[in-house]
Amino acid sequence: MPIPQSFLDELVERSDIVDVVSEYVELKQKGTNLFGLCPFHSEKTPSFSVNRDRQIFHCFGCGEGGGVITFIMKAENLGFVDAVKHLAARVGMTVPEDGDADTSKRRAQVLTLNKEAARRFHANLYSPGGRRGLEYFYSRGLTDRTIRRFGLGWAPDSWDDLLGGIKGYEKSLFLEAGLAVANRKGGLYDRFRGRVMFPIIDLRGEVIGFGGRVLDDSQPKYLNSPETIAFSKSRNLFAMNLAKKSTYPAMILAEGYMDVISLHQAGFSSAVASLGTALTDAQARLISRYKQEAVIAYDMDAAGRGAAERAIKLLEDAGIKVKLIDMAGAKDPDEFIKRFGADALSARLTQSEGHIEYRLGTLRGKYDLSSDEGRISFLHDAAEMLAELSSPAERAVYSSRVAELAGVRAEAVADEVAIARKKKAGKERSAERRRELNPVAAMQPKEREVRYSDTKSARAEEGLIRCMYSDGELLRKAREALPPEQFSSETLAKAYSAMLEAADEGRAPSPAIFEGRLTPAELSLVMKVLMDPEPGGEAAFLSYVEVVRAGYEQRQAPDDLVERWQKLKKTKGWEDKEDGE
Ligand code: CTP
Ligand code: MN
Repeated sequence: MPIPQSFLDELVERSDIVDVVSEYVELKQKGTNLFGLCPFHSEKTPSFSVNRDRQIFHCFGCGEGGGVITFIMKAENLGFVDAVKHLAARVGMTVPEDGDADTSKRRAQVLTLNKEAARRFHANLYSPGGRRGLEYFYSRGLTDRTIRRFGLGWAPDSWDDLLGGIKGYEKSLFLEAGLAVANRKGGLYDRFRGRVMFPIIDLRGEVIGFGGRVLDDSQPKYLNSPETIAFSKSRNLFAMNLAKKSTYPAMILAEGYMDVISLHQAGFSSAVASLGTALTDAQARLISRYKQEAVIAYDMDAAGRGAAERAIKLLEDAGIKVKLIDMAGAKDPDEFIKRFGADALSARLTQSEGHIEYRLGTLRGKYDLSSDEGRISFLHDAAEMLAELSSPAERAVYSSRVAELAGVRAEAVADEVAIARKKKAGKERSAERRRELNPVAAMQPKEREVRYSDTKSARAEEGLIRCMYSDGELLRKAREALPPEQFSSETLAKAYSAMLEAADEGRAPSPAIFEGRLTPAELSLVMKVLMDPEPGGEAAFLSYVEVVRAGYEQRQAPDDLVERWQKLKKTKGWEDKEDGE
């Protein structure tokens, strides 16, 4: 029996390629990619690289490349099924054999039950019994439209509203879905009682869990679904299903469900929140799949500031540019919008503090600047932070800020920063040299078989492949704008077709969609193309389409010219001139 696609998708989602590869190779961040010594061929300078966003690896030396499953197949010398089993064991999943031990089947059942529960909660809200819940939402300023959009609901104060009201499912499924709790004698009762309900919906539109809030200030204020086979708190974000479609360039990160909902209602459609826990690495990476920028809109209290500090680090590690919004005057975004309105928030968003300023503020609070020792330590740490800035103007501006804070001359700070930069540069120099020697920037692929006939168009085709790989919306647009036949590179055209077909089958892009369709040399080229950290985006996409089209037309043109010449000759009765005349 083939392993179900849904199982493979989940396995790959849970097996982060950086974590897996790190068990074999020591990786170091270099730009967007990570580099290390290739485990598949012998080398002294690292040319093996991993791209976290796209979840692929590629060796610029030996050309091996692919996704996490391919990596394990090669590293452990296993066949496909055994590699899948190996990875599954690593994350505690069981590869579905036959019959009812089928995890993904069970997971599908949990999702169906969750959807029914969400429908019931929502319907409750508009029934007489749910009046209290509906009034609560109104009292918090939500409109019916917003309530519908988020599928909000009401769980009545009853032990068995769900258990008794939803028919046709085994009772144990309620327990597995986290909708019911077992008492000591094994009897089941509803987990969510007397709470307004917030369904948590994943990227595919499935209801994976719930949060429920009491109407007064009894405890716990919020109750969330436990971890289930369908729900992982650390890998999902509230409202990501909506935010991923937002055209706003930055993801807005809030702390609570109500903050996110208020933000959306006020027009900030890219707001998301983690699910009652601190932001995780997986969530930061999820964000990085959609946006290159994030604005943190956490509570203004000490806890919120600490959480923001940690979130900044995670987001930056995921390659996201981070800003912080100053919500002075309100404790959280929800309150801010109520008090000052959406326009005021918009204004704060545009002037949101760069994280350097924010971090300098935090750093300053750590040291006693009235003592020499404190000032020196502060200066040292601040200089290291500023050394990271690539813009000289930014470094100068912040250096004088630091000088002011520490009460020293600006030149002294500049000197410190220069020393910190030298140190940093020394560390990076060898890696830099490697890069220059690397064929990354070479125009032509090494393998003859996949050489480009039209390098200009091929460059753009490479760009298109990257754009479409990370953005399904652009893939859809490309389908209308550009048939694969207009590509100049046969290999890239094949990769494009494979992506289109995978999309038809509802599969997300992964290295697996190319397997069996591309030769090893072709696969290697495509992986190398995807390894380029270029961010893509709509504007880039459109210009690539133009270049490819123009290239196509130009390649057609010579034939046209000859044809036109022939026609002209015929109509005018011209004769071909003999040589030497
Ligand atoms: N949270 C939780 N369990 C709690 C309290 C909070 O899981 N007992 C999570 C929820 O996801 C909540 C978030 O932490 O949305 C923020 O909590 P808090 O700031 O207390 O709530 P608010 O969002 O301000 O909620 P409200 O405005 O409804 O009071
Ligand atoms: Mn609040």
